[in-house]
Amino acid sequence: MTKKVFIETVGCQMNVLDSELVIGALRKQGYDLTDTPADADVMLFNTCSVREHAEEKTYSSLGRVRLLKKDNPSIVIGVLGCMAQKDQELIRKRAPYVDMVVGTGQLAEVPKLVEKVKATREPQLAVSLGRADAGRDEVEASFVSYDPTRDPTMRPTPFQAFVRIQIGCDKFCTYCVVPSTRGPEQSRPPAHIWGEVKQLVDQGCKEVTLIGQTVNSYVYDHGERQTRLSDLIAGMHDVAGLERIKFVTNYPKDMTDDLLDAVRELPKVVKYLHVPVQSGCDEVLKRMKRNYTAGYYMDMLARCREKVPGVAVSSDFIVGFCGETDESFAKSMDLVREAKFKNSFIFKYSERAGTKAADRYPDDVPEDVKKRRNNDLLAVQNENSRLDHRAQVGGTVEVLVEGPSKRDLASGDRPAPGAVRQLTGRTMTDHIVVFDGPDRLIGRTVCVAVTDSSPFTLFGSVPTDELVGVDLANTDRDPPPPPAAPHRFSLPLA
Ligand code: 5AD
Ligand code: SF4
Repeated sequence: MTKKVFIETVGCQMNVLDSELVIGALRKQGYDLTDTPADADVMLFNTCSVREHAEEKTYSSLGRVRLLKKDNPSIVIGVLGCMAQKDQELIRKRAPYVDMVVGTGQLAEVPKLVEKVKATREPQLAVSLGRADAGRDEVEASFVSYDPTRDPTMRPTPFQAFVRIQIGCDKFCTYCVVPSTRGPEQSRPPAHIWGEVKQLVDQGCKEVTLIGQTVNSYVYDHGERQTRLSDLIAGMHDVAGLERIKFVTNYPKDMTDDLLDAVRELPKVVKYLHVPVQSGCDEVLKRMKRNYTAGYYMDMLARCREKVPGVAVSSDFIVGFCGETDESFAKSMDLVREAKFKNSFIFKYSERAGTKAADRYPDDVPEDVKKRRNNDLLAVQNENSRLDHRAQVGGTVEVLVEGPSKRDLASGDRPAPGAVRQLTGRTMTDHIVVFDGPDRLIGRTVCVAVTDSSPFTLFGSVPTDELVGVDLANTDRDPPPPPAAPHRFSLPLA
């Protein structure tokens, strides 16, 4: 009988990719993925520590697992990732039935540790030594050794994949745990990355998202010369079959002109930049140690828009950071009004033990004020998103079709093969589009006429010429060949 593994992932794309790699490695040991906890021989929780809420989610999942472990004492329970790195002791205290605690730099060891638990029933702990030199070597070793093992079934879709180009972070924003949970920043050798991209494309991938904590700080030192993110992208751009290249997340100070030129010039590069500002107030930015002012950020934004006409930019904000007054918050409101982001991710400040902010500044904004500021900022952003979406009605966008829409999936209907259903995908500016079409469009890039909009979604229809060759009634016919690289994208100009 095949052994079964269940995995729950909380957090960012980095964690989604880590889970994919861990499952890939376990499949090699004969494990199959299950989404039923009761069927599992191994249960893994890949965790996030960025906010307290994410940690509580994992603790409540672990609480539910206690009963399962009572019924099935042979089950192996593992906590992986950022929380494992940060709170090994606490996890074992709050959930003593956890068998393995494995940090972000040790995930390659998961299969071996599972076997060890099974053989000895002794708890296994594998975490990094920290950011000291020893930590750096450790991280590097795991970085290189486990990346090639991938599990296509864990990808967002069969034709989209994340590719890690950098690990760790050296920026040390005062509120953030990432530099301690993910270790020092290191850029992966370009040849590895290009090799992986080719491999993914051979497996049918059309879109790769290059990920790193501050992806635009990517630089690989070859000794006499360097490869920067712009060079890296240029080096993969001509891989036949690759249609889209994205990269997240960017650091405002590292948005160099060579990168913006590459985004503009290279047709496969998605015209979308996620560049978190965090606050519109200089004093707050200083306490956050972001190393820029609001004015610097706005100049950078203007440069992005000048260099890459039609580019969509999104941001992150933290509201209620230590010492954020009504006046400082008003500056974030002004910035979000002015910046016209495509969308913003807004978070209430969550104090994290071990960070500089937790040591230096009291978490002095009351929860109800944080909540109100969150809602107020969101309301301004939503109005901007509504206008941004509405401005695209009447235009045509190029959409990589990802699959059935959430509504279609929720309906539970199983449409007849070839029948029209509601599909969803993203434009070259990362806007979400929903439209009706047959399953055969999934994985293809199609032109969609935008007919309506909401603050979060564009609604459209596929012109009939896109459906030529897609015989809605007869599924025996071959689907039309996918278009070549989407060189025809039309940018919705503001
Ligand atoms: N509290 C709230 N939000 C945080 N972020 C990072 N650390 C914290 C924290 N302690 C947010 C930032 C970052 C995003 C990934 O999470 O906005 O860009
Ligand atoms: Fe955290 Fe700042 Fe690094 Fe982003 S840049 S991961 S917010 S320390």
